[in-house]
Amino acid sequence: MASLGVLKEKVPGENRVAIVPDVLPSLSKLGLDILVESGAGANAGYCDQDYIDKGAQVLAHGYDVLGKANIVCLIHPLKLEDIPFCAENAILIALMYPLLNLELIKEIAAHNLTAFSLDLIPRISRAQAMDPLSSQSTVSGYKSVILAAHTLPKFLPMLTTPAGTIPPCKVFVIGAGVAGLQAIATARRLGALVEAYDIRPVAKEQVESLGAKFVDLPIVARDVEDRSGYAKAQSEDFYAKQRQLIIDQCKKADIVITTALVPGIKAPKLISKEAIENMKPGTVVVDLAAEQGGNCELTVPGKTVVHNHVVIHGPLNLPSSMAPQASFFYAKNIQSFLSLFFKENKLSIHWEDEIIKNTLVVREGKIVHEKVLAALNQQLR
Ligand code: NAI
Repeated sequence: MASLGVLKEKVPGENRVAIVPDVLPSLSKLGLDILVESGAGANAGYCDQDYIDKGAQVLAHGYDVLGKANIVCLIHPLKLEDIPFCAENAILIALMYPLLNLELIKEIAAHNLTAFSLDLIPRISRAQAMDPLSSQSTVSGYKSVILAAHTLPKFLPMLTTPAGTIPPCKVFVIGAGVAGLQAIATARRLGALVEAYDIRPVAKEQVESLGAKFVDLPIVARDVEDRSGYAKAQSEDFYAKQRQLIIDQCKKADIVITTALVPGIKAPKLISKEAIENMKPGTVVVDLAAEQGGNCELTVPGKTVVHNHVVIHGPLNLPSSMAPQASFFYAKNIQSFLSLFFKENKLSIHWEDEIIKNTLVVREGKIVHEKVLAALNQQLR
């Protein structure tokens, strides 16, 4: 029987765990024995006994798990120095961002291991249940509004009381992808008036279906979307025009949530210093693009800054702040992904499956992902 290892995440501030006890019965049905490092789920609210109750074996040290597990599931990839401790022919599954971690990929290959990177899950309907970028963006979108509401010294809903009537607060969301749509839905549930903007015209219908108003800026982007549904980069001239047009929208808002991303490059700067200086005192900005540098010129990733009485949050890893359920979503993603690895309770990877092909970075010591190979060749030049 193949075994699956669950380790404590080593990245500072990470509370999530890749596998939660709830998914263990399904994993056992696939044909897996589960080995868990003691304390792996503690920061996400899952204790060792919860894993034991669902049939897992808990081992005292991470290295005991690494040395035995045929498949190792993590959120962040293993550290370079931990690779030599993996069992022979082990399969590693994590959000590896291989183009940003070429040395790690080389080390994985040097030890004849196999690696799958979940950030490379293709955007097809069948893969939706396996996609942690989506599931974790849902968490970030929700939490961004809660963070903003906590900071804003105002009610979000309209209140009619004997002491007077308070109008609803106004929320402006920039970027209506997975996180943006969840931010819109959350702000609406809290009673705010919501407006949203996205460079992709198809987002209009989704924004409106959530009861928000879509803002049509009077500029037309060309060639906005790639085949996967991701926004494409635009010229600096286009972004400069966007920044100007966004100033007026931001002036009206009490809360601005920005989520605009373009894969592979730094987040576009859409909120200028001038826009911040034109906002009402007390306005709260939550920049969900902070990990990619931020959508706001004044964002400091990982910090909260105040400029001209406007509070700008640049949070990193919001899903970690909701670790129990963020971990649950992640574990469900892995559970679905692993269904492609088994046939009749035996480890038998469907190598020709589109999702397997897209996410496979290293196969038994051979780097196979085209973009990673191209990046490595570039390194050699
Ligand atoms: P993302 O996180 O890469 O970007 C967030 C949003 O920012 C996107 O909606 C993008 O259009 C927008 N944006 C980028 N540049 C902008 C600019 N200059 N101004 C305004 N907005 C800008 O995208 P995310 O959230 O991952 O998803 C984008 C689309 O892909 C969505 O329609 C989503 O439903 C779809 N999707 C499909 C999946 C599947 O079919 N398996 C899985 C995940 C997403």
